[in-house]
Amino acid sequence: MAFPASFIDELIARNPIEDVVGQYVELKRSGSNLFGLCPFHGEKTASFSVAPDKQIYYCFGCHKGGGALNFIMEIESLSYPDAVRHLARKSGMDVPEDESYRSQYKQQERLWALSKDAARYFRQQLTGPAGRQALEYIVSRGLSRQTVTQFGLGFAPDGWSGLLDAMLAKGYRREELLDAGLAIRSEQKGSVYDRFRNRLMFPIIDIRGNVIGFGGRVMDDSKPKYLNSPETLIFNKRKNLFAMNIAKKSKLECIILTEGYMDAIALHQYGFDCAVASLGTALTPEHANLLSKYTKQVVLIYDADEAGQNATRRAVPILEKAGLQVKILRLQGAKDPDEFLKKFGADRFKLLLERSENHAEYRLQNLTRKYDLTLDEQRVEFLKEAAQMISTLPNAIEREIYGARAAKAAGTTPEALKIEVDKAYRRRVSRENRAKERIALSPAVREQPAVRSIHYNNLRSAMAEEGLLRMLLREPTLFDKVSPLTAEQFSAPLLGKAFSLLQSRHFDGLQVSLAGLGEEFSPEELGHLTQVAQKRDELISDEAFADYRRIILNEAAKARLQSGEDLLALRDRLKQQKGYGG
Ligand code: GTP
Ligand code: MN
Repeated sequence: MAFPASFIDELIARNPIEDVVGQYVELKRSGSNLFGLCPFHGEKTASFSVAPDKQIYYCFGCHKGGGALNFIMEIESLSYPDAVRHLARKSGMDVPEDESYRSQYKQQERLWALSKDAARYFRQQLTGPAGRQALEYIVSRGLSRQTVTQFGLGFAPDGWSGLLDAMLAKGYRREELLDAGLAIRSEQKGSVYDRFRNRLMFPIIDIRGNVIGFGGRVMDDSKPKYLNSPETLIFNKRKNLFAMNIAKKSKLECIILTEGYMDAIALHQYGFDCAVASLGTALTPEHANLLSKYTKQVVLIYDADEAGQNATRRAVPILEKAGLQVKILRLQGAKDPDEFLKKFGADRFKLLLERSENHAEYRLQNLTRKYDLTLDEQRVEFLKEAAQMISTLPNAIEREIYGARAAKAAGTTPEALKIEVDKAYRRRVSRENRAKERIALSPAVREQPAVRSIHYNNLRSAMAEEGLLRMLLREPTLFDKVSPLTAEQFSAPLLGKAFSLLQSRHFDGLQVSLAGLGEEFSPEELGHLTQVAQKRDELISDEAFADYRRIILNEAAKARLQSGEDLLALRDRLKQQKGYGG
C-alpha cells in the first residue's frame, strides 16, 4: 500500500462517515443507522444508509458502498490518492506521500499549472494585436464578450513557438509542454514546436476547475476544423465533458448533451447553462456516470445528420444504463443547436426542450423507418414489434398515446393495436411474475450477491463465511480463535480476501474495518462487502462462531475431495486409521 495504513486509519477516524456523507446528503437517523436519498442514482425513497459504528455506507438500491474514502472517490470523481489528499486537506492532516505517488502528483500539478498559464497566454493573445482577426471571427459567430470571458476563450497566434517561448520564459520545460500536449516534437529534426497555431482556443476545464486540455478551431475552411489536445496525464477524453464545470452548478433540471463546443457555448449564452459537449469522442459509460452525479435527466441533441443520429442511437442505452432518463431533441430547420438558436431564438428552443420526445417516441420513429409500411407483410412485423415495445412503457396513458401513433403509421385502428399491446403486456407481466416467484421461492437465489459479477459457488459455505466476517468485524478479538481456518478455505475468493486483509490488520494493531480497505477492492466488490456487513447484526457467541468455522472447514474439505487433489493424502490417512501401516 502506498500510504501507510496507520495514516489512513487516522484519516478515517478523523472523518466520521456520517460527517463526510452529511456534506452531500441529508441524513435522518433511524435506529443505529442514518438514511438519505442516494447521491449515486435517482430515487424518491431513501435507500442509502450510513452505519456510523461500522464507518461504512451502503445503498440498497444501486449497491454502492464503502468507507469515507470510497464515498469521496465516487462523488468527487477522484482517484484513491486524490481522495486521500482531499480528506486530509479538510481535516488539516499532512499526507505522508509515497515517492511514486508524490512524483506523479507533482507532475500532475505542474501540468495543471502549465495548462492554466497557457490558457492565460491564449487569452492575452486574443485581446492583443495578434488577435484582431480572431476577435472578428468571434463576433461573426455571435459570441458575446461575457461568453468569451466565461469560457476563457483565447487565440493561438500563427507561428511555431509563440506559446513555447512564453512558457519557457515562465520556467516550464520543453518536456512539460510535450507532456501537456501543447507542443509537438518533429520526427525528422527533433525540434519542438507549438501544436496549436492560428486557432481560436477553447480551454477544457474539469469539474474541479483545472484546465486539462484545449480544443482549437480554425477560422476559415482549412482542415482539420478542430484540433484537440491529445490524451495526457491530466486529460482523459473518456471521462471529461466540455462545460461540465459550469453545467454542474445549473439550476435547470436536466443536462443538455451536445456534440460540439460551439453548441454548448451557444446554449449557455442563450441561458441554457446546463449544456455540455463531448470532446470529439463517442459518449462513454464514464461520461454517463459523471452526468448521473449531477442530474436525473439528460436531453440529447446531436446533429441532425446521419452521424449524429447514429451517435444518438448508441448513446441512449449507455445513458439509461447509468440510471438516467433520456430525452431526445430533434432539431428541425437547423443542423445544430448553435444554428437553431441564432435562427429561431431561445423561446423556440425552450418550447422544443419542454416538448422534447422521450425515448419511446424515438424508438417508434426508428421502427417506422426500419420497415417498409407500404408492404402488408412488413406492416404486420412492424405492428408486432411496436406492440412489444409499447407494452414495456410504464404507464397506461403512454401506452395509449404511442399505441395510437403506431397504429396510425401502419394504417390500422388504435383498437386493433391496443389488443396487440395488451397481449404483449400480459405475456410480459406473467413472465416477470413467474421469474419473481422463482426468485422468492429459492433462498439460494436470494442470497446470491446482487452484483452479477460476483457469484457464490458454494452457498452453504458462503453464508457461513459472511456470518464469520460479520462477527469478526464486530469482535476482532475472535481472530485469535479462527485457527485452523485460513483464507484459502473460503469458497468465495472475495470473502477470503477480505478475511485475510482484515486478519493482517488485526495482527498489525490496525482498526478492523472495511473502511480501511478502500484501495484493495473494486467498487462492485466493496459494495458487496459493505452489504454483507450490513445484512444483519450477528449475535456473537462462541458456539455460533465455532459453527461457522466448522461449516467452512467441512465444505472446504469436501471441495478438495471433489477436486481430487487430496485423494492420495486421504488414502494414506484412511490406511493409517485402519491400521494398515505404510
Ligand atoms: P462549428 O463548425 O464551429 O459550429 O463547430 P461545431 O461544434 O458545430 O462542430 P461540428 O458539428 O463540426 O463538430 C462537432 C465536434 O466534433 C466538435 O466540437 C469537435 O469536438 C469535433 N470535431 C469536429 N471537427 C473535427 C476535426 O476536424 N477534428 C477533430 N479531432 N474533431 C473535430
Ligand atoms: Mn456548428
